[in-house]
Amino acid sequence: MMRKMTPLQTLGIVFCAIAVVWLTMQIAVFNTCLESKFIPANANYLCQKEQNYLLLRVHDLAKSEPTCTKLLKVLETNVNTLTDRPKIFVITPTFTRPVQKAELTRLSHTLLLVPNIHWIVIEDAAIKTDLVTNFLAKSQLKFTHLNVPTPHPMKMSQDDPSWLKPKGVLQRNAGLAWIRSHVSLQERGVVYFADDDNTYDLDIFEEMRYTHMVSVWPVGLVGGLMVERPLVKEGRVVGWNTVWKPDRPFPIDMAGFAVNVTLLLKHPEAGFSLSVPRGYQETRLLRDIVSVDQLEPKADNCTKVLVWHTRTEHPKLKQEWKLSIPSNVNIEV
Ligand SMILES: *[C@@H]1O[C@H](CO)[C@@H](O)[C@H](O)[C@H]1NC(C)=O
Repeated sequence: MMRKMTPLQTLGIVFCAIAVVWLTMQIAVFNTCLESKFIPANANYLCQKEQNYLLLRVHDLAKSEPTCTKLLKVLETNVNTLTDRPKIFVITPTFTRPVQKAELTRLSHTLLLVPNIHWIVIEDAAIKTDLVTNFLAKSQLKFTHLNVPTPHPMKMSQDDPSWLKPKGVLQRNAGLAWIRSHVSLQERGVVYFADDDNTYDLDIFEEMRYTHMVSVWPVGLVGGLMVERPLVKEGRVVGWNTVWKPDRPFPIDMAGFAVNVTLLLKHPEAGFSLSVPRGYQETRLLRDIVSVDQLEPKADNCTKVLVWHTRTEHPKLKQEWKLSIPSNVNIEV
């Protein structure tokens, strides 16, 4: 039985219909752009970026209309399968500490705005914690939850003032192992190592999405510099501006590169190691799969900063340690 609609509801439906038609037209235009042979390959991501922003914008406009939102969801799922954009596998090692949930919340909210993403979260722990398990379950992201403990003597790197942060070596390797056993050679995608304490511009995900082998870009606030970056000449990486351990073959931060997933599948030996010195993990992975002249510079020939190596201050918990009953009994922080 049809109930009579108020004029406002009618208007809402009409608006929704117009929005959907408009969106469909726009998407058709962007799909043409994506498939066009006449635009250079490195410009394809711009079409994708526009399309992503468009979808977000329409969501914003339609959020007060439940029917419209539902319709858009269906449309968006179809667009995602139709455009067949490469998937981004985000590998995030994490460990228990007071700020863990806050950091994961921040990162997950960034990832929620990135289409076609698969978040692989690996806890440095002997068993999966309730905190991370419950957090992921309500995150609305497509995820895989793994855990592997770092053997105790290896856990801290003594020469690092941020000694509380473990190296994440076994965790990242566990993420790679999962990809190698679950992703087929036909899958189009990239792998990105995103720690939970960095800050990410959404654009970096669209930049890395179309990576043929290994793409690179600047990272802000790392290596004792405002920006650490590859030096690019005529579209090729010719060196680095790195000051800290500049003799490394790949003097680059974990947040500054992405690897084509097929390339990793074809090199099952490529990974990280507990026995390499600090700063050499990136080199350990990259030396087996790519040479410097093959690197694909992103972010306008490495002139833009789209990711920052931010660090959260250790919270001051002096009063907490004095309490006989912790302030967070039965409260997850
Ligand atoms: C990067 O540099 C190359 C060579 O100078 C140029 O052809 C290309 O357009 C530049 N790319 C961007 C995105 O600025």
